Amino acid sequence: MPTAAVRTPAPARTEAGSPVDSAKAPTLSIPRYLQRHYWWAYIHPNAIRFFDHDPIINFILWGNYAKLRNAALDELGETLPGQTLQVACAYGDLTPHLAERAAAGGGRLDVIDIVPAQLRNTRRKLKADAPVRLLNMDASDLNLADESYDRAIVYLLFHEQPDEYRERTLAEIFRVVKPGGTVVIIDFAQPEWWHPWRYWFKPLLAVLEPFALDLWKKPLTSWMPAPWSEREWPRRQYFGGYFQKLVITR
Ligand SMILES: C[S@@+](CC[C@H](N)C(=O)[O-])C[C@H]1O[C@@H](n2cnc3c(N)ncnc32)[C@H](O)[C@@H]1O
Repeated sequence: MPTAAVRTPAPARTEAGSPVDSAKAPTLSIPRYLQRHYWWAYIHPNAIRFFDHDPIINFILWGNYAKLRNAALDELGETLPGQTLQVACAYGDLTPHLAERAAAGGGRLDVIDIVPAQLRNTRRKLKADAPVRLLNMDASDLNLADESYDRAIVYLLFHEQPDEYRERTLAEIFRVVKPGGTVVIIDFAQPEWWHPWRYWFKPLLAVLEPFALDLWKKPLTSWMPAPWSEREWPRRQYFGGYFQKLVITR
């Protein structure tokens, strides 16, 4: 488990502005859960080519892509001064929007991901002068200094992680965000009892996204370290509760 101890900031493993080149980047091992359950979505050479198109991601999110992306952006604000951290890449144009807001605020956006091809794909979607660094890192073991970010955004990552990774990732996020900084989480949740699709979401998720059902059983705060686990945070539901936004103040 990561501790709250001060860690020396390490140099970025993949420098901003340069292509993320897996041949040059040190090899980080890809967690087993990703290799086993999400190879088809993020790792296979054809995954990005297939999935990173608006109609496909919108279909996967049951027509909620723009709504969820905007929910995250609205929470963060029109301009993003200072340092913003995006924990894991996302298909679609969330990162280009974040980059524009960082540029407008004179800030910088760091995006981390464990799969170098995902970082290269994100670079492809950004303007050449975007104030963005793409860093090859494991979310559960961030090679970043304590209390160095003004805010963090975690978009649809936690439902893909097994318990121990989810817990470690959250601990790392609270370590690197400054006191008073904001953590915005968009993820799955248990739909309301009246959701007409609820009963077939469950078997579908059990096959395709086996850890997503964890978020049906417990609130996301269950995997957070104290004191953040001990409070109720502003939470908004989307699509009959199937998705949630949680906003936490570090
Ligand atoms: C954040 S989720 C987003 C999924 C969502 N369907 C989308 O793209 O809109 C997917 C990303 O998380 C990354 N990822 C998963 N586990 C990770 C970890 N432990 N550390 C860093 N990146 C991780 C994957 O490589 C992938 O790029």
